[in-house]
Amino acid sequence: MNRREFVRDSLVAAAGSSLLRQTGFAATSSLPQEQVPGSIPQSQIDGARFPDGFLWGMASAAYQVEGAWDDDGKGESNWDRFAHTTGKIKGAATADVTCDQYHRFKEDIAILKRLNQKSYRFSTCWSRIQPTGTGAVNPKGIDHYSRLVDAILEAGIRPFCTIYHWDMPQALEDRGGWPNRDLAGYYADYAGILAKNLGDRITVWAPFNMPWTFTYLGYGVGVFPPARSNFNEFLKAAHTVNLAQGEAFRSIKAASSKATVGSAYGMAPSYPKTSSEADIAATARYHAMNNLYFLNTAMRGEYPKAFVGEIPYEAMGFKPGDDKIMKVPLDWVGFHYYTRRIVSDAAIGTASSGSGHFGTETEGGSRDPLTQIHVETPAEGPLTEAGLEIWPRGIYDLVTQISKEYNYPIIEISENGCCYLDAPDESGRVPDTRRISFHRQILAELARAIADGAKVRGYHAWSLVDNFEWADGYTQRYGLTYVDFRSQKRTIKDSGLWYGRVAAANRLNV
Ligand code: FCB
Repeated sequence: MNRREFVRDSLVAAAGSSLLRQTGFAATSSLPQEQVPGSIPQSQIDGARFPDGFLWGMASAAYQVEGAWDDDGKGESNWDRFAHTTGKIKGAATADVTCDQYHRFKEDIAILKRLNQKSYRFSTCWSRIQPTGTGAVNPKGIDHYSRLVDAILEAGIRPFCTIYHWDMPQALEDRGGWPNRDLAGYYADYAGILAKNLGDRITVWAPFNMPWTFTYLGYGVGVFPPARSNFNEFLKAAHTVNLAQGEAFRSIKAASSKATVGSAYGMAPSYPKTSSEADIAATARYHAMNNLYFLNTAMRGEYPKAFVGEIPYEAMGFKPGDDKIMKVPLDWVGFHYYTRRIVSDAAIGTASSGSGHFGTETEGGSRDPLTQIHVETPAEGPLTEAGLEIWPRGIYDLVTQISKEYNYPIIEISENGCCYLDAPDESGRVPDTRRISFHRQILAELARAIADGAKVRGYHAWSLVDNFEWADGYTQRYGLTYVDFRSQKRTIKDSGLWYGRVAAANRLNV
């Protein structure tokens, strides 16, 4: 029995909970949390402090919450097409309605206000603004986001706009999708339209959500639209996105003098499996590919050292001068943290364990011949109900590493959260104590990184409401608000109420 199994079994005995057997985690146990691998001592949680004006926030994404998939002139998106294709989404679910936030945004913003939130990170849907991705603007699409932003501001909350959270007009996918470098220009036009129409009120823009994920899962391994699986297509798609990020930075700034442009990258701190030089080098390649592939290109105009050999410029379709297009000094750096990775060198015969998909996290097996990394999602710490390991220390390591590598930029945690399926009990409450424990520990580690010098100004819990979890459909719940998808009734979970108190008090022991 390893340490984790021992602790879990002791906790099961202490708490007598059957749920514990499924998840291996008991937040309410009377045993000290120190005994759970990776957990944070209560004294550190009690002592955690955040700077005045810290931006407590929540996040969502258009496709996951809006519904109204063909209302008011919206064009078909790649995710509409994917979800309407049999066999792509668990339970044959679609996001045609999902949380219906397109019609119910006032109710959801009232929840943010009630929970003392200071920032709301949402995304805009390209095919509402330009139904086929280029050309004339659909005024109803602009009106919708204009009303949304007004409502956010009226609630005293900062609007944080992600311009692309994975849904693109299907018409652009039909023209080759992201591997087609023309998309960089189309995307910059779309970003400029948003900044021109909303830039008097929105000052915080992130061009792309998790660019590695949608390019790799969409074009490299094919579990996201457009379901292509070719590593060279991934390289091309990622290069277009890097160009698009640079072009959009300029079009946004040209349209709005108040604009600040940052990012919403997916990142995971990575640790070598052994202390061998080969594993340490593989871990550096993982960091370059997964964490820096879109950040270093912006900040320094060059690709980080993600490959065993030379950078495959030809395969990516790199042209002379592209380095100048990509290079844009981001005003702040935003990234998500969900879990950590253990990395080894695939070239020296590490056995492949096969690929695993954990929602938007995908790992396992040896990735590809150019990076030659073998990546595992460890299970030493407890697992969430999405199968992701809880490792609070990871946020400290990641924030500290990015701070050092990029000369202490302003950082926003654009997402952090956990999947638990807790539902309302007989009294109508949702006592999701495991989610409270998750956020409390991660936030204590974030406070430690801030105390050690990182300039973190905001944190966004994923998510405001339970929603459509991509290829996992409605089988996962990340919300701090429960949604009954049949009645659309919202119930703020205990975690939401707790997080509201945290936002008001600026500390965790509330
Ligand atoms: C992130 C995505 C977000 C949501 C969460 C659970 O990777 O950005 O849309 O799916 O995972």
